[in-house]
Amino acid sequence: MKVLVTGSGGREHALAWKLAQSPRISEVLVAPGNAGTAREPEVTNFPLDPEENVRLVAFAFTEDVDLVVPGPEAPLVAGLVDHMERSGMPCFGPTAAAARLEGSKGFAKQVLDAAGAPTADYREFTDLEAALEHVDQRPAPMVVKADGLAAGKGVILAETRDQARAALRDMLEGDAFGEAGRRVLVEDFLQGEEASFIALVDGENVLPLASSQDHKARDDGDRGPNTGGMGACSPAPVLDAEVEARVMNEIMHPVVRVMRDNGTPFRGVLYAGLMIAPDGTPRVLEFNVRFGDPECQPLMMRLKTDLLDLIEKTLAGQLDQARPAWDSRTALGVVMASGGYPDSYAKGCSISGLDNAESSSVKVFHAGTAEKDGEVVTAGGRVLCVTALGDTLPAARDRSYAAVSEISFEGAFCRSDIGARALARLRE
Ligand code: AMP
Ligand code: GLY
Repeated sequence: MKVLVTGSGGREHALAWKLAQSPRISEVLVAPGNAGTAREPEVTNFPLDPEENVRLVAFAFTEDVDLVVPGPEAPLVAGLVDHMERSGMPCFGPTAAAARLEGSKGFAKQVLDAAGAPTADYREFTDLEAALEHVDQRPAPMVVKADGLAAGKGVILAETRDQARAALRDMLEGDAFGEAGRRVLVEDFLQGEEASFIALVDGENVLPLASSQDHKARDDGDRGPNTGGMGACSPAPVLDAEVEARVMNEIMHPVVRVMRDNGTPFRGVLYAGLMIAPDGTPRVLEFNVRFGDPECQPLMMRLKTDLLDLIEKTLAGQLDQARPAWDSRTALGVVMASGGYPDSYAKGCSISGLDNAESSSVKVFHAGTAEKDGEVVTAGGRVLCVTALGDTLPAARDRSYAAVSEISFEGAFCRSDIGARALARLRE
């Protein structure tokens, strides 16, 4: 079989790497991929824009592809799966109508309400005056969110009412997030520990993948600005069996039923970003309709089952028959980023030490990298996700950081405390 993966990040490198291991896949095409996918056996990059849906459909047919696995959310929200399905091309993901769970935070809240699923209390506004009045009546801190896709930047954690007012003015009066910010949500600030609950959904059945945890803030101790994610580990001890059962019964099953009953069944990867309260109550912060990045990297390191089998069962509505096997070890990925990220940063810096860093239990997934004159250079904010397996969390962490220390490029930085929250919980 030939499989086309779309996207260019660490998540897509991990997906392409894992799919290429399937005995039933002869070639993985990546549009456009990065220097990591370019160097992977049985994987070929094609310089296509992953957001040009019509072109991707044409390309899939020209290349005689058997299955499309999209990485990022924007093309899904814009209807990539609808385009592919209309043309008869199997595509692993939700339709545009189902992808609204990520594409509109207001829509996600309506579905959560209809499902009776726990989430932060909120109000939705398009009118600035009404939103400002609401802020006057709420205790700080509070959270202001742009309704639409904003590449992870449309969420403002306002510690004071003034900060909330400024965020509302930026979105509703200014043009901070364009169309995405014309509608905003103001919601209560939730306390607790965040975790990622990533599941495959076939319209009806929900198959939870191994638990994982991201580190969204740039700096150690969860300080500094929010990023796409500075590292991840799997499993996440906060999602123990009891909490997982609650997430399935109180959130995943009811939400999937509401989507089905609305005539927009969800099929693909459903990722609930959760806040777990100190008493163990899980509440939904947001939905994503694709794998998390960087959570996907440790998950693919631990997945022993052929990913193609799981994707096929999702497409066939047979996830009730899937029994994925996971490596019992811990996987932990540390993101190496370009100085300046998440704001502006340099590109084109040469990266050294990549080959020394890898071993049978360490994989360096590329994100913002490119090849230039036979050399691997930086091409993005998040550059690499150095991922290791270990018998224990500290072993996986030490192995990842040892590999990180082999690699260098100008301005490189990473957090030094990936896995700290999971470790603290294990010590309890
Ligand atoms: P989101 O894109 O909605 O996941 O928001 C990005 C990040 O903002 C989350 O990963 C949380 O760290 C934080 N966040 C979002 N909503 C809330 C909330 N209601 N309370 C506390 N933190 C939040
Ligand atoms: N790691 C967070 C995300 O993929 O949205």
